[in-house]
Amino acid sequence: MCGIVGFVGTNKVKDVLLDGLKELEYRGYDSAGIAVLQDKEFSSYKAVGKLDNLVQKVADFDPKGFAIGIGHTRWATHGKPTELNAHPHLGDASYVVHNGIIENYQEIKNELMAEGTHFLSQTDTEVIVHLFEKYLATEATPFEAFQKTLAKLEGAYAILLATKSMPDTIFFAKNGSPMIVGVNDEGEKVFASSDAPLIGHAKDVIYLGDGEYGFVSPTALELFDKRHQRVKPSLTPLPTSKLSAQKEGYRFFMEKEIYEQSDVISDAMLGRLQDESINFDELDPTLFDGINEIKLCACGTSYHSALASSYLFERYAKVRTSVEIASELRYKEPLLLKDTLFVVISQSGETADTLETLKMAKAAGLKTLVICNVDNSSMVRLADASILTRAGIEKGVASTKAFATQMTVFWMLALYVSQLRNTLSIEKIKDQIHALREVPNSVKIDDNLHEKIRRLSKRYLHGHGFFFIGRDVFFPLALEGALKLKEITYLHAEGYPSGEMKHGPIAMADPELFTIALMPKGLLYDKTKSNVEELSARDSTICAISPVTFDKADDFIQTKEHGHYMLEFFEMMVVLQLLSMEISVRLGNDVDMPRNLAKSVTVE
Ligand code: G6P
Repeated sequence: MCGIVGFVGTNKVKDVLLDGLKELEYRGYDSAGIAVLQDKEFSSYKAVGKLDNLVQKVADFDPKGFAIGIGHTRWATHGKPTELNAHPHLGDASYVVHNGIIENYQEIKNELMAEGTHFLSQTDTEVIVHLFEKYLATEATPFEAFQKTLAKLEGAYAILLATKSMPDTIFFAKNGSPMIVGVNDEGEKVFASSDAPLIGHAKDVIYLGDGEYGFVSPTALELFDKRHQRVKPSLTPLPTSKLSAQKEGYRFFMEKEIYEQSDVISDAMLGRLQDESINFDELDPTLFDGINEIKLCACGTSYHSALASSYLFERYAKVRTSVEIASELRYKEPLLLKDTLFVVISQSGETADTLETLKMAKAAGLKTLVICNVDNSSMVRLADASILTRAGIEKGVASTKAFATQMTVFWMLALYVSQLRNTLSIEKIKDQIHALREVPNSVKIDDNLHEKIRRLSKRYLHGHGFFFIGRDVFFPLALEGALKLKEITYLHAEGYPSGEMKHGPIAMADPELFTIALMPKGLLYDKTKSNVEELSARDSTICAISPVTFDKADDFIQTKEHGHYMLEFFEMMVVLQLLSMEISVRLGNDVDMPRNLAKSVTVE
């Protein structure tokens, strides 16, 4: 996830920018850069990879005296992580940094290119600075040029822009992506996309609202609202703890990451959804030539996303799909045939068992693909092809947003393969794309829903076990729900296919057996309902999750009706994450760092 910093003041510009970017590292990034304007001259530095690479590049840069500066950490969305694509982006005499997505960038870029503008990067951001410079020539003041630029942009953004035509001023705008301005008694102004970089540099902050924009200089802080009315900035004292600032007001990283899912899912889809097709720039379609089977292999949560996606690959792409737990595959002397595409899924890209299976597949001459959240990880470097899930750094050990983005990528990939194999009509693909665009909305959390889950959680602190049940893709989701609960509450839980309960586990049914039933309306509702009724008849305590009111449940969490069962999947995923978290909180456990677990398991 990208991060932004900015500074107007004397002597401190380099330190404030670099320290600020360091504070934003936890969000994840693949390149970073700064631009400093001093005595009407810009100095700009960019580097791919760790921030240390940038720090080394600026070692001899020592801007003493008054200066303004902007900085950025980038998590690649449009265009690969390269220096050219890293921010700040340059026009002729201005630099810009941006978080978010300019949805109409292609249209603007085409217009500007037709007028002769030369673009250096593949990013959506670069259009902002060129548009600004175009208007600089026609508008009375640089600020009017900035206003006119904003009026053309559609999408989400947090923007800082510095220009030689007003060398003591930073222009800013916020719409959808976070941006905070900090002030102190020395008249310095500091910007950041979250609280942490501001701590120590600002006394009070202004949390900008959507549609707000303006400019700062040593003597001014001008703020306008979305109706272009000047507004008085409202100052709030800045928190003093960096750790709590990183959590952005949430109690735990896990909670923050659950709430972030809408944004990271949007990032995962960026540039990959067209009106009538799915596009993965990073894939060469010949990867799928001669492939008769897809074998998915992973551990833990990643295994659950693989299992869920196997239903989608067979249903939509009509390709035989098998799923393997990496630690099992390693020693079962598996039959690895060359017409199989071997796909590993890993949040970290470093899990030892998964990595070993990738090596085995390569040694057997199979084509390989990795779905991963970390660029340049061991698996990304080793596999023939990779798709990044773009979830940003996940700090909570119990995976949430990484799983959400894996599922998003898998759904898109199943459709991509179905395009290649001609197994779905254009109309069907269009319907699915329409549904995919709704995923970010389906995971937004209503306060009432969270409050209901919080209240319900107190009834699930004991018992002799939980069964999470579901059918089809809701079975792997049940497995994932049970894993979340185990990880952070230490209560015993199992995920089970609804229809399989009667073949054994139903013997356990009594009021102390808790059944968490996933009952989507859009997929096998009646079949699942019968299975839940069988448990209800045997007095199991039932918490039903469904859009359809169900009177045989002890507790009922109502989800929304959606046009596609996968949207129900995503909404129920959030319900399960919140339920585990709230039970864990009531039990007094460490939500972010549960006992005995590690975020990345690099031993066998
Ligand atoms: C560990 C983590 C899990 C994760 C699994 C696989 O067990 O605690 O959250 O699902 O490893 O990790 P990977 O990075 O390969 O997805």
